[in-house]
Parts: sequence; structure tokens; C-alpha cells
Amino acid sequence: MSALRLLINGARGRMGQMLIACAQGDATLNVTGQIDVGDDFAAALAQCDAVIDFSHHNTVEPVLARCVEAGKTLVIGTTGHTDAQAAAIRHSSAQIPLVFAPNYSIGVNTLFWLTRKATEILGSGFDLEVVEMHHRLKKDAPSGTAKRLAEILAEVRKLQYNDDVRHGRHGIVGERTDTEIGMHAVRGGDVVGDHTVIYAAKGERVELTHKASSRETFARGALRAALWAHAQPAGLYDMQDVLGLK
Ligand SMILES: NC(=O)c1ccc[n+]([C@@H]2O[C@H](COP(=O)([O-])OP(=O)(O)OC[C@H]3O[C@@H](n4cnc5c(N)ncnc54)[C@H](OP(=O)(O)O)[C@@H]3O)[C@@H](O)[C@H]2O)c1
Repeated sequence: MSALRLLINGARGRMGQMLIACAQGDATLNVTGQIDVGDDFAAALAQCDAVIDFSHHNTVEPVLARCVEAGKTLVIGTTGHTDAQAAAIRHSSAQIPLVFAPNYSIGVNTLFWLTRKATEILGSGFDLEVVEMHHRLKKDAPSGTAKRLAEILAEVRKLQYNDDVRHGRHGIVGERTDTEIGMHAVRGGDVVGDHTVIYAAKGERVELTHKASSRETFARGALRAALWAHAQPAGLYDMQDVLGLK
């Protein structure tokens, strides 16, 4: 079988560089395009089977349009999308195999699975808080992973993400309500990505934590997602699909 030809968008960025490094020496992958700001996306697109986009969330609509037009498999790694951008992703997935995951690490996807189970088991008597920490250069907050964790909490507790997630606290905010999900974004140094879900009740507390110490885990997961998705029919997939966790 011939190697999957990949176009990396955001190639000069932190994730782009890690993707290129991880793909080197893998006989199943061939990076045929490395695109960043100002490069010719269309020419590189013609040479590839699949696109992995770790550039910026504002690029997603043109990237979707080009991949749909050319019939290319797409793995979206960017986070921080607006509601309109997320809707465009869902719409395009009717026409191409598309993987969209807030986090491509196997450990974090296990954390997603554990969070759903723990929330079901612990029930409504526990207060829910999500804390994330990332390096000082991260542009969006909260992280896509923290958002997904809060979505899982909201799904299980039958809450609404937009209404019930409370971003930080400041001033005389009053007592905590039973239904709020606290969300806290910490920034500093070179932290690759820490996420903790806290379940706090009277007399006990459960904390589920994942800490990434290298971007390699995200890169290897995204490369695995591209290989997997290229063999699938058009549709919207996430890393739980890629790993067979559903
Ligand atoms: N899903 C996951 O597992 C996961 C893991 C890690 C990171 N991420 C996300 O991946 C994205 C990139 O993260 P990063 O840390 O690699 O950021 P980064 O170092 O800033 O890299 C992004 C690269 O994309 C470039 N870029 C910006 N606009 C572009 C455009 N229109 N076309 C082509 N390239 C463009 C940037 O150029 P300039 O510097 O000139 O703007 C930069 O070289 C972020 O959204 C981050 O949250 C996701």
C-alpha cells in the first residue's frame, strides 16, 4: 500500500513542526506539503490525500471549502472555533471524512471516557469544576479540551454549556449554585497542557488529572487520525471514533 500523502497547515508552528518530525521515518506517511502564512495552499492541496490543520481557528472555513471541493480527508487540530465555524465543520463533514477533536492524545481521550463514567457514578451531590493550565503563548481560553470536559459534565448532568459554565470568579459572586460548572484557565511558562476535573462534595473530593509533557502525543494521535479517516466514508469523527472508544 502506498504512503498517505499529507499536507500540514500551520507547518512552521509548534504542532506543525512536531507533526513533520513524527511523520519522518514512518513508511505509512509522506508529508508532501508544508504550508504556513503566505504559502500556496491550492498547489500543495493537489499533491496530497489528506490535510492536517494546526494553524489558527480563523483559517477553518477556507480550509474546509478547499478540502470539500478537492475531496480531501481533513483532520482539524485547531481549537477556539466560533459557533459559526463549528457549524461549518459539521456541514462540510457530509462530504468528506473529517476528524475534529479538541485533543488528539490517547491519555486525554481516556480522561474524557473516565469523566463521563465518574460523573454518572458520583451523581448530583458533587460540585463540578474544571481547571486547565497551558503555556503563556496560548491564544484561546478555555482550551478546547477543557471545553469538551465541561460539555461531558453538562451532558451527563443535563445542564446547558452556554448557561451553566461559569468562567472564573471575581468579586462578591455569592455562594456557589448546585448547577454551575466552574471553569478556570491558568497560563504560564511552557506548560504543554494540564487538565483537572474536580468533583467536590461534603467530606470528600475526587480529582481526575491529565498532564501532557510533550506535543508528541497530540502529533502522533493526529497522524493516526489521518490514516484512520482516509479509510472511512464522509462523516464527522472524533478521537473516540479513531480509538474505538465509542
Ligand atoms: N487538538 C489538539 O490535540 C491540539 C494540541 C495542541 C494544539 N492545538 C491547537 O492547534 C493550534 C496550533 O497550536 P500551536 O501551538 O502549534 O500554535 P502556533 O505555534 O502558533 O502555530 C500555528 C502556526 O500556524 C500559522 N498560521 C496562522 N494563520 C495561518 C494561516 N492562515 N494559514 C497557514 N498557517 C497559519 C502560524 O503562523 P503565525 O505564527 O505567523 O501566526 C503558526 O506558524 C491552536 O489552535 C492550538 O490550540 C490542538
